[in-house]
Amino acid sequence: MDYSKGLIAFTAIIVGVITYSAYKMLGFGGNQFPVNGKTILITGASEGLGRSIAIQLAQKGANVVIASRSAHKLQAAIADIQAAAANSSTQRFHFISADLTDPDAADRLLNETTAWNNGVAPDVVWCCAGYCHPGLFIDVPIKTLRDQMDTVYWTSAYTAHATLRRWLVPVSQSATSKEQQPPPRHLIFTASTLAFVAVSGYGPYAPPKAAMRNLSDVLVQEIEMYNGARRKKDANAPATDVKIHIVFPMGMTSPGFENEQKLKPEVTHIMEEADKPQLPEEVATIAIKGLERGDFQIITNTVGQIMRTSALGPSPRNNIFLDTAASWLSNLVFLFVIPDLAKKAFNYGKEKGIPSAKA
Ligand SMILES: *[C@@H]1O[C@H](CO)[C@@H](O)[C@H](O)[C@H]1NC(C)=O
Ligand SMILES: *[C@@H]1O[C@H](CO)[C@@H](O)[C@H](O)[C@H]1NC(C)=O
Ligand SMILES: *[C@@H]1O[C@H](CO)[C@@H](O)[C@H](O)[C@H]1NC(C)=O
Repeated sequence: MDYSKGLIAFTAIIVGVITYSAYKMLGFGGNQFPVNGKTILITGASEGLGRSIAIQLAQKGANVVIASRSAHKLQAAIADIQAAAANSSTQRFHFISADLTDPDAADRLLNETTAWNNGVAPDVVWCCAGYCHPGLFIDVPIKTLRDQMDTVYWTSAYTAHATLRRWLVPVSQSATSKEQQPPPRHLIFTASTLAFVAVSGYGPYAPPKAAMRNLSDVLVQEIEMYNGARRKKDANAPATDVKIHIVFPMGMTSPGFENEQKLKPEVTHIMEEADKPQLPEEVATIAIKGLERGDFQIITNTVGQIMRTSALGPSPRNNIFLDTAASWLSNLVFLFVIPDLAKKAFNYGKEKGIPSAKA
């Protein structure tokens, strides 16, 4: 049998895959996240990752509104963000203090941001609110478990709800293009690699992050209905009006990190021994690059990438070729990692007994 044809076809496929992947990875697809002149609302942005994101987006020419509970911290942060502006004579900055565990507060936040932005809803909303309270499941009080769901999951869900309700309303025929910002608009969640891989000691924190991931999977699909409806009305409408993204950082030296380290059970420290926490600035830069590439699920380091691809499940792929190949490899890796984590937990108990509860 003449297999030269097969060989040619095989080579063509490989070359195609590599070219396509390189094209996507190197960002030849163009910047999918232009922020110059856009208005961006960031929650939980008085410190840590949210603040770093705000500074870097200000450097890229965005108008920025930051929100968090503490007006005092917001005031300090807004000064740094303002100082980072690419053009201080054209860019505008604002802060709004809000406790987003209250759904009305999220609604008010969007109202006030829209009013400040001359009646136009923000172009980008990035949910960064939430902190991590680690602890062994039976050691933390039920109140802490509920608090984590409220501060991690619900703050983001309320903000997403209030945002999408404004973005997805049908635009009246009379609306001028001036009132309508050019799409796509971006809604960004901030989850954690704990949504992919479980680690002992994150019983309070991992479930709200996994819930956030599930919400992003639902929304990225549901949004297509609205995109379709726009096309029905206007055959020339851009294919995408709203884009959903979700960032999955690993350990990060945010201001809450020290307290988190103190609360962490010893067994968690042992399991995370090899992990090197990233700086919020670093995570912000990588996350923004992922958005510029147009990724749906954004990962900030290599270990995170292995975790994501081992747990792709039904989530949309960033790059079908690379993600598929990586998922085969990482599933092999996790054949060893999962029993190893369980063994570490078992050996810890065998050696030290039941750890005494921490506050
Ligand atoms: C800032 O924007 C103003 C108004 O568009 C423009 O005249 C000025 O040249 C810009 N400055 C810089 C540093 O880009
Ligand atoms: C936000 O604005 C809408 C429309 O003006 C209004 O109905 C709603 O009550 C406002 N929400 C809050 C929490 O103020
Ligand atoms: C929901 O989240 C879990 C854990 O993050 C994931 O394994 C699962 O695939 C997700 N399901 C959907 C439908 O998004």
